[in-house]
Amino acid sequence: MIIALTGTPGVGKTSVAKILEKKYHVINLIDLALEKGFVLDHDKERNSYIIDTEKLKNHLRKTMKKPNNYILEGHLSHLIDFSDMVIVLRCRPDILRKRLKEKGWKWEKIEENVEAEILDIILSEAVEIHGIRKVFEIDTSDKTVEEVAKITEELIEGKLDYERYKVGKIDWSEYI
Ligand SMILES: Nc1ncnc2c1ncn2[C@@H]1O[C@H](COP(=O)(O)OP(=O)(O)O)[C@@H](O)[C@H]1O
Ligand SMILES: [Mg+2]
Repeated sequence: MIIALTGTPGVGKTSVAKILEKKYHVINLIDLALEKGFVLDHDKERNSYIIDTEKLKNHLRKTMKKPNNYILEGHLSHLIDFSDMVIVLRCRPDILRKRLKEKGWKWEKIEENVEAEILDIILSEAVEIHGIRKVFEIDTSDKTVEEVAKITEELIEGKLDYERYKVGKIDWSEYI
């Protein structure tokens, strides 16, 4: 099974993936893209890379082995259209702002990402690509990294009530 673990920067993807590494093959897509040179451009102002997702997809198709369970981690992972399940981590805007501040990010970049979280940008992209039935949301706001990792694992293993994590229950519009 291939699971995409996505969400706005700061929601906790990398932290959660670190815990899940014990059980799954975790691939950080940005690290992989940089390592392989799947880069189209570098946005100096934002200090971010424009990734060649087509090359990334081709590489993953060739290298991932069917019986293994993979977690593709990163804010681009929902763009990998052949994954079986997409888990979008979410975070309340005020808490996300705090997490990104603690990471030492610049004000402008923080606000850009907080806005993206409020507007459900990644969630909408995920639903557009995968359809609503394959996409799930976990609100990480009042949970520890360990708790989020446990829910993620149980969702993957089919041990939880999918209904509870279905798309559409999280709404940050009051933070606009
Ligand atoms: N559930 C959580 N509760 C509190 N802090 C968290 C949680 N998840 C992540 N963090 C913190 O927020 C910051 C961003 O986490 P990170 O895993 O790097 O996010 P991402 O990979 O989605 O950008 C880190 O400092 C991390 O320690
Ligand atoms: Mg990360």
